[in-house]
Amino acid sequence: MLYGSCYYPEHREPNRWEEDLSLMQQAGLNALRIGEFAWKRFEPVEGDYEFHWLDRFIELAGQYGIRSVLCPPMRTVPAWLVERAPDLLIVTNEGHRLEYASRYTFCINHALLREKSASLAAALASRYGSNPHVIGWHLDNEIGDEPDCHCLVCKVKWQQWLSSKYNQIDVLNEAWGTVFWSMEYDHFGQIPTPRITKADYNPGFLQAWREFRSDCSIDTVTLLSDAIRPHLPEHGPYITTNNQMYWSKRTDYYKMARYLDITGTNYYPPYGENCDTLAFGLAANRSFKKAPFHVYELRNEGHSIIGAANNTPAPGELERLTLHTIANGADGVFYFPWKRFPFGSEQNHGAITDFDGKPTRMYDECGRIGKQLRRVALQIEGSLIISDIAVLYDFQSRWHIECDSPWTGDKRLYEKQINMLYRTVRALGYNCDAVGINGDFSSYKLLLVPMLPIVDDELVMKLKLYAEAGGIILFHPMSGIKNADACYYPNRLHPEMIKLLGSRTLETVTSNPLSPVTFQWNGEQYQGSLFLEIIQMDSAQVLGTFIDHWFEGSPTITKQSIGEGHVWFVATFAEERFYRDFISLLCQQIGMSPLLNAVPPTGVEVSMRQSACGASYTFVINNRHESAEITLPSDLTDIWNGEHLSQNFTLQPYQVRILTDAGKMQVLDESIRVSL
Ligand code: GAL
Repeated sequence: MLYGSCYYPEHREPNRWEEDLSLMQQAGLNALRIGEFAWKRFEPVEGDYEFHWLDRFIELAGQYGIRSVLCPPMRTVPAWLVERAPDLLIVTNEGHRLEYASRYTFCINHALLREKSASLAAALASRYGSNPHVIGWHLDNEIGDEPDCHCLVCKVKWQQWLSSKYNQIDVLNEAWGTVFWSMEYDHFGQIPTPRITKADYNPGFLQAWREFRSDCSIDTVTLLSDAIRPHLPEHGPYITTNNQMYWSKRTDYYKMARYLDITGTNYYPPYGENCDTLAFGLAANRSFKKAPFHVYELRNEGHSIIGAANNTPAPGELERLTLHTIANGADGVFYFPWKRFPFGSEQNHGAITDFDGKPTRMYDECGRIGKQLRRVALQIEGSLIISDIAVLYDFQSRWHIECDSPWTGDKRLYEKQINMLYRTVRALGYNCDAVGINGDFSSYKLLLVPMLPIVDDELVMKLKLYAEAGGIILFHPMSGIKNADACYYPNRLHPEMIKLLGSRTLETVTSNPLSPVTFQWNGEQYQGSLFLEIIQMDSAQVLGTFIDHWFEGSPTITKQSIGEGHVWFVATFAEERFYRDFISLLCQQIGMSPLLNAVPPTGVEVSMRQSACGASYTFVINNRHESAEITLPSDLTDIWNGEHLSQNFTLQPYQVRILTDAGKMQVLDESIRVSL
């Protein structure tokens, strides 16, 4: 298990490196992420690599038992390169070239940037590929987090991409429906990038553009990994990168993960609250390769930003945040950054040590966590989260909801809905996975679909087979309505979706969240809003109805039996209280019980990791400042604090416990294992 931080040796006088490394060693760190912004120090003059300082640093860190995860940079480039090719600066959708004043302002498709960054990556890999102190290769930083570029290079690449996707221009015209507003193209060379225009772009155009930009991100991943991989010994270091915090919509991370060995992410949730605001991001990162992942940037100290809320961790919060990431499947955690930056844009960013590198309050907590991790790392590493419930997460559908068109409405609905479903399941005390449309649904008893506007025959068939085999699906409005080019299916639904739901949509109604609609289900009244469907039953059962407005009596909750399984439909976006009641009942009906056999107290997070040898580790984390009373199904051992716990105990504010059945414990090891 990796316990590390992000360090910038190029910011520090070399004669202070040992001081920093010694503090890291004392705090139990065993890894550092380095290099992502150091292009100029790696290549001060074009073609003239200068790696001696890096040789010395990597070697010295190794002597302190700290291995390096090396990042070949790409999108933070030296001035000499921009001077040579000013056209590698991004052109915005308004036609302005960005200024050379910060990172991520460079066109990732520009041939010279690609050539120079691949050469640098190859030079680094040929020098350090077999270095025993370099355990991983982290490609650039936050790939995908740059504005869309509209330069000529991108325009030509976009036209070629369209040409290979659609083959003939008439196929594209037909697929997008360009007859609307007389926008039919004669050849691919006429198609612009989506720069500003008078009214709105065709949704098919925008859908393809997002997919194209995502493919461009993936091209940078393959460019760098192809440059590095030939220099790595077999079964040697891994290749990874840090997905942007949370779950950025810009890159289809399921597709990108095919080219990486391990998924990585950044994680900056607010302090002082439950960890559930962004926690779906951890489940999503776990799902991209269906394996443990690394958090390459975890927030720690508060930032010195006047008026910033939820910014400063109370004592114990760094511990609960670190363990929260591990509880949700991380096998490596790195704090960003190790030392406060006295200069540069992020000089107000919190860190583990101060401007002068001296320990802060965070350092003490980091050291305590390091010591405790050392005790449990061997047991936890590689263990998996096994979940019966998953939330379906799909980039195509998300792109569609978030596309740049006033005709879609609330662009954050997909994100809100996915978070709400995830949060509800976790608050009920169950593990919850994310799963992509190409993932394996068969291990899940319950599949929650936040909405799924874009479907094709294959996906609807996959959902049908899942239900027939005994799966339970929960659908919402705007599911199964459009094809991959964002055009509606006739009859408002894919024909097989009509059979799957056992109902058809007659009409859609929208409502402002401030004037919600009311429905009844299971003897209770609930509210829904934003979007609802007036549906007509074919074969589904009606279990709840709207009880106000002109559509009073229209079905809200329906259930269709298919083979061994069931397909539920909620015909609106309901309030959170409904999901808590509904999912809780559904889980009981399926015969599932929460991880500790009870719904945890508010703010207490429970999750379980299971190792291959059958041991299970239940993380119980108090995310609140108040203590909480916990009742266990039986006496258990807390391996985090080294205590035996009787059935009833008090969880102190921000306290973390990792419970296991002592009989199944593996041999404890006093050292953190670095091997992967
Ligand atoms: C991350 C980024 C880091 C740093 C950090 C600030 O998204 O990767 O380089 O900018 O944000 O919180």
